[in-house]
Amino acid sequence: MRKVIMLGIATFLGAADLSQVIESPDATAILKKDALPAAKAYKMPDGCVTDDAGAIARGQYIFHNLNGKDAKENPPEGLSRKLADGKDKQFGNCVACHNIEGAKGYGNIGPDLTKYKELYMDSGVRNAQFMYQKIADPRMDNPKSAMTVNLANGLMNEREVCDLVSYITAVKK
Ligand code: HEC
Repeated sequence: MRKVIMLGIATFLGAADLSQVIESPDATAILKKDALPAAKAYKMPDGCVTDDAGAIARGQYIFHNLNGKDAKENPPEGLSRKLADGKDKQFGNCVACHNIEGAKGYGNIGPDLTKYKELYMDSGVRNAQFMYQKIADPRMDNPKSAMTVNLANGLMNEREVCDLVSYITAVKK
């Protein structure tokens, strides 16, 4: 379906002079500014995955919220809505693309992460290192991933990625 639409647009644009669009210096500057650093491999730090309730609560909050201004409740201890420079901290908003236990209004662009530990980790298909890398920089094993990059671009720090891994791994009601 998408291919058909793309082909339609390409045919339509084929008749137009695209040199203006492609060579627009403004567009090039914007693209450069938004460009991500190259995909990077990460090793999960020691003690990353924990059953500490505080870490799991932070992971849960990061998973279900976007940023300081739009976040619904106060973040749990150890997590701030503001960055050191006073700007709003961006959280993961993973729920925009993933279902998980208790998710409200979730999207389905990404796979359902419900019962992830039971289904994918206990069976040996996935492990915590895979999940750490996926959240840190999803492009490593999937260069075309539609998922957001989190650690490679500084959106999150190592501990926040570990909090997310701990939350997804945790046994939930
Ligand atoms: C824009 C949509 C989007 C957002 C936002 C997003 N993801 Fe994903 N995620 C995906 C897609 C698509 C995949 C499958 C492709 C891939 O593996 O790269 C995926 C894959 C995953 C996987 C691997 C599943 C598996 O075992 O194959 C995990 C774990 C994951 N995401 C966790 C997260 C977490 C945690 C966040 C929030 C920090 C998040 N995702 C945010 C789209 C998204």
